[in-house]
This record gives sequence, C-alpha cells and structure tokens, in this order.
Amino acid sequence: MSEITSIQSPARRQTQTSIGEPITRTDGVLKVTGTATYAADNHPANLLHAVMAVSTIAAGRVTHLDVDATKAHPGVVDVMTPDHRPELAKDPDERDDPFMFRLDLLQNDRVRYPGQPIAVVIAETLEAATEGAALLAPQYEAETPRIGLNAGEAFVPDGVGPGEPAEAGVGDIEAGLARATRRIDAVYETAPQYHNPMEPHAIVAAWNGDRLTLDTPSQAMAIARGRVAGLFGIDAENVHIRSPFLGGAFGCKGMILSPQALGIMAARMTGRPVKLVVRREQMFGPLGHRAPTRQTLALGLDDEAHLTGLSHHVRTASSVFDDFFEPAAGVSHTLYASPAIHTAHDAVRLNTGTPLFMRAPGEATGSLALESAIDEAAAACDMDPLAFRLANYAEVEPISGKHFSSKRLRDCYAQAAERFGWAKRSRAPRSMRDDNGLLVGWGVGTATFPVVMFQGHARAVIRADGSGLVETGAHDMGQGAWTALAQIGADSLGLELGHTTFRAGSSDLPDAGVAGGSGHTATAGNAIHNAGRDAIDKLAELAINDQASLLFGAERRDIVARGGRLVLSDSEARSDSYRDILGRAGLAEIEGRGTGSPDQTAQERFAMHAHGAVFAEVKVDPDLGQIRVTRLVGAFAAGRVINPRMVESQFFGGMIWGISFALHEQATIDRRSGRVMNADLAEYHIPVNADVPSIEAISVPEQDRHINALGVKGVGEIGITGTGGAIANAIWHATGVRPRRFPIGIDDIL
Ligand code: MOS
Repeated sequence: MSEITSIQSPARRQTQTSIGEPITRTDGVLKVTGTATYAADNHPANLLHAVMAVSTIAAGRVTHLDVDATKAHPGVVDVMTPDHRPELAKDPDERDDPFMFRLDLLQNDRVRYPGQPIAVVIAETLEAATEGAALLAPQYEAETPRIGLNAGEAFVPDGVGPGEPAEAGVGDIEAGLARATRRIDAVYETAPQYHNPMEPHAIVAAWNGDRLTLDTPSQAMAIARGRVAGLFGIDAENVHIRSPFLGGAFGCKGMILSPQALGIMAARMTGRPVKLVVRREQMFGPLGHRAPTRQTLALGLDDEAHLTGLSHHVRTASSVFDDFFEPAAGVSHTLYASPAIHTAHDAVRLNTGTPLFMRAPGEATGSLALESAIDEAAAACDMDPLAFRLANYAEVEPISGKHFSSKRLRDCYAQAAERFGWAKRSRAPRSMRDDNGLLVGWGVGTATFPVVMFQGHARAVIRADGSGLVETGAHDMGQGAWTALAQIGADSLGLELGHTTFRAGSSDLPDAGVAGGSGHTATAGNAIHNAGRDAIDKLAELAINDQASLLFGAERRDIVARGGRLVLSDSEARSDSYRDILGRAGLAEIEGRGTGSPDQTAQERFAMHAHGAVFAEVKVDPDLGQIRVTRLVGAFAAGRVINPRMVESQFFGGMIWGISFALHEQATIDRRSGRVMNADLAEYHIPVNADVPSIEAISVPEQDRHINALGVKGVGEIGITGTGGAIANAIWHATGVRPRRFPIGIDDIL
C-alpha cells in the first residue's frame, strides 16, 4: 500500500516570497497521471469487500432479511444485521457534540429514511458482496412517511447551523415595515440537494488488535478520530487516518458518517481488512444533504428607496431523529443597512437522512432569496439594481452594529460592473435581445461569507542541510491546500519553495483543524506561519549568542529570514546561513510549533466577512423558455491571496455551484414513497461544460490587519453566494417573470 503524505514543493525561480505566486498545484501531476491514491485505491492483503443493503421504504420496520440465501452465495463471508454485529462502546443515537451526528449502525430494525443502511454483506469479492446484498430481499412493515415542508406542525429549533440562534433581530420590525411607503412580500423556495462529490465516501479499515488504520476521505481527521474512538471504545491515538487526496467533499466528508463506521464494524467482525465504497445512488441517503427551504421575505422601503424593515423567515427541515437546521436567514444580518431587521427559522421533521453542512450552508440558500427580494425592491423603486444596493450599503454590520474588519464591497461592485459592461444595461425587462432574437437579461447579486477559523496546529523544521519541512494534518479536497499551505510554509521559514517539503493528509501529523467553513487556509495557514516563526526565533537565538556568527549580539527584531539565511535588515553584509548556524551548534535540526485559531478579542470588536459582487448574463428562448447562462463576472474581496491561481479557481468553482443552485440541482422526492427519484448523476443535474459560460473572477486586493496574522479570509464558498441571485435577477430582466422557486425551470418562466 502506498502512502503519500509528503510532497516536495516544486523548484521555482528565485523570488523574495512564494506567497502571492500563481504556482500550479504541487499535487497536480500525481492526479493527472493517476498516481494519487484515493481511499478506494488501497488494497491491503487479505482484503474483504463490504456492500451496504439500504432501505427502499422511508419509514417503518424491516421484518425479514433472507440472510440464509445471502450466506449461501459463493464468496460471501458474513452478513452484518441488527442481530449479528459487533458491540459498540457508544450508542449511535447518542449525540453530545455538535459535530457528531446520530448514525445508523444497525442498532435495531427501525427505518427512519429511504436509503438507510439495513445490512452489510461482506465477501471475498465486490461482485459477491453486491450479489449477496441483492439476495437479502428485505421485507418491511411500512408506515406513512413525513414528506415535504408541509409535513406536520412546525417547531422552532434550539439553534440553527452550528450553534446560531433560530431568531435574531434589531429595531422594531413591525414599526419599520409599517412606516414603509412601498413593500415587497415574497416567498422563495429551494429544493433539497445532495453533495455528490465525484469521489463517493469510501473506507478501507484494518484492525491490528486495538489499533485501527483507516483510508478514508476526511475534511476533519481529528474529529473523525474522536468519533471512531468513541464508537469503538479505543484511544484516539490508536486510530490512524490517511486522507492524502479527496475527490471533492462539499461538507459531506466533515464527519465519520454511517457507511464509514459500518466498514470499520465489518472489519472488526471479520478480523480482516474491509473496503466499503458507497455507490452513487447510496450517496442520496445517510451522507447528508441540503434541506429544502421556504423563505418568506418582507421588505419595507421609504420614498428615498432606503430599507425601513427587513423580515426574513425560513421554514426548513431536519430528519425525524437528529438536528441540523439550514441557517438561511443569516445573510440578512450582514448585507444591507436597515433600521429594523428580524430573522427567524422554524422547521418540520421529515423521513430523510439528516441534513448537513453543504456548500455555504445558510449563505447559499439565504442569499438566493435575499438577493432576489432586493432586486424586486429595486424594480419597485424603479431603480437600477446596483444603484439600489449601493443606496442600502451597510457601513457597519446592521444587526450587531460592529464595524467590519475590512469591507471592499464597493470596489467589488465597481470592478465587476466595469468589466461586465453593466452601464449599457437597459432598465426595463424584456428590453434586450441578441442577433438571434433571444431575450437577453443582466442581473447582479451580492456575495458574502463569514471569516471562519478553527483551531489548528503545525510543526516547522529547519534541517542541518538548510532545507525545510512543514507538517500539518491538512486536508486537500481539491481546493489546493497542498499548494497554498506549502507556499505559506516556505515563506514562514524564509526558504525557497523547492527547498521545503510539505507533509499533510495524515492524522499522525499535528491536527490542522477542519477543512470547512472556507477556513482551512486561515486556520492551518496561520498555524504554519506561527510554527515557521517559532523555528526562526530559535535559530536567531542560536546565531545571536554565537560569537562565530556575523549576527552575534544583534537584536532579534532586526533579523529577517530569507533565502535560507538570517539577514540583518539594515545591513545585507551581516548574515548567516541556516546550514552554518545549525552546523556550528552541532544540531541536526531545529523545530518550531505553531497554532492558528480565531482571535476572540478581534471577533468581539469586528464583523468579519468576505464580500463580492457577481454579474450574470442569461439568454432565454422566447418561444421555448430555454435558459442559458452566457456570462458571469465576479469580483471578490477576501483578504490576502496566497495563490491567485488557486483562488481564481475557487471562485470559478463557487460560481459554477451558483449556476447549479439557480438552474440545475434538485433531488426530486416521490410524494408517496419519500424516495429520491433521481439518485444518480444522469438525472440529478449539475452543470456540465456546455452549461458553464465564460466566467471571470476578479480578486479585489484587500488588507485586513484584524482577522489573523496572515490576513487571510477564505475563498472556498463565497462564489456560490451572489451568483444564484444574479442569475435569477437576469432571468427576470430577460423575461419579466420573477422566479421564486429554485432551481428555475422552463415551467417557471413560460
Ligand atoms: Mo463546507 S459545507 O464548510 O465543507
């Protein structure tokens, strides 16, 4: 079995710093040559294959499984069912941590949602396990499932998202709306969506006594380790997770969920390594999704087109057995100035798998509705939608009253508008056509995403040969962590990128925190930055106290690290190389440690968000209603840019998710059975290249001294916010029909 945790950063031309360089991915060649090992590429000796059987009903009980028929099938080794499974140290229905969701580990015969695992067949080959699972022929006692946002009485959850209040506000919303001279009332609906990374969840689990080795894609190895340790009653130190490469994640690989835990149970039960790979249709059940929302907005406006009140109410859903509530109204706390704001969430419980964090949870869903409603307000005031947004620009965060740590949203609007050619837009809907007679529409949406940081750690080493090593258990979902973090590492050690080895993707390295909330570079990057600084401090200490050094007696603050040397900042002539300093001290290496974590004081003082503006052009066939996005231009201000190439590609990815949200993605639920009717990538539509037009993403330079030492905000998710709204608003401009249901289809506009 290969284990890639270490990537030698590419050699490159001599420059002062590697931060800010648009270098290509350090893991790119491994990926395009098929050398990168994803979890399912591991084949330890003596491997068994496990296949889940999943429920075809949404609610009820499993009354019979034909285990005998399955066991009689050649190659089948064992069948895990509620009657025959390893004991667990922790009840899968116990939840005492916001990041440890309730699991379905065959604890009983209950079925709570369609696609729930009800048995696991373990066999010598994948084929035998697959056939064995089919032979189980489950029988059920079905109950009527709870389906859709009108199922049962709604309730107010204790909190939404990861620990935000369900209700919030500022000012008197009733009075604010009452004094409006114009009012917009609108209801927007978004469909359930499933993450569907290209790489489905997979695990290769191998026990050695009480030690466990796991190959599984993870966005948060330390959390995963803790979850596994708790379930199986072993020390977290005994769980080694290898997760060097992920084929996408989007939030659904943030935790160990039921299929991975079942793979570990199967290995425990059989005493052999087990591989369990989730099939595409099985991704639409136990692995999280974005819940549907129904969002009711009320906007009051005075005669100067200023908001007098903004009310944003969200109805969403969780599963019948666990809590995750899409925090969709949160964007209304941030984006527009209003003396009165009120946001609230309520929810129903449905027979679905538990919803989860998915691609800007809350911000993506909420900004679709808010940006549409703001556009409706602009139209009601007969104003240009960009001018309307500028008229209601939030100088401070409206709901908290805090100043922004930085906010270059005006520049985003200006630069993207200029690039797009917004000034040439004609105001009235249905007023623009192209040469082929297609209706042309232009729309704008505002993007926003909070600055999130977790706690992460890193180790940085300078070796006697003058080279560097940087280690942190970071996760590369495809976003470029191998590259951007290596750049920060080289910089922090004052070394060329080619003289630095970067190790990541394994739980035996320092915990890098979570690759989520768009906060991985901020978290792991600042940990690396601090670790490098710590190593340089120690090295400087050696030189300052070494009579043989040209830096003897110098002040630490006058010394900078660059090109493998410590240099006195006011005298290039006084310097000393890392190699010489360590050599004279007789040391093989010197080690620094660092932590990256949110600055509580700054967080109390400032509102911290990235911002952006997205402009969209659509063309609509006036006869057929066919909608095409033909152009997207976004400009984003998200703090310091570590690697412009990676950042641009993150913006592109986010904007493509936005196209997807506006026009493509939805799980269609059968009203009788509760099952997802399009549980495959042929019918669960995502944008293909033909759906993705010319996209441009502009990085607006932004310095932020408050958020963290590196000044990094986060770029992973902001692109999905703003884009969907811009497309919806462009469709209105093209057609005169206001879409209020997402994804927008032909039937919504004809
Ligand atoms: Mo993301 S939904 O923070 O992985």
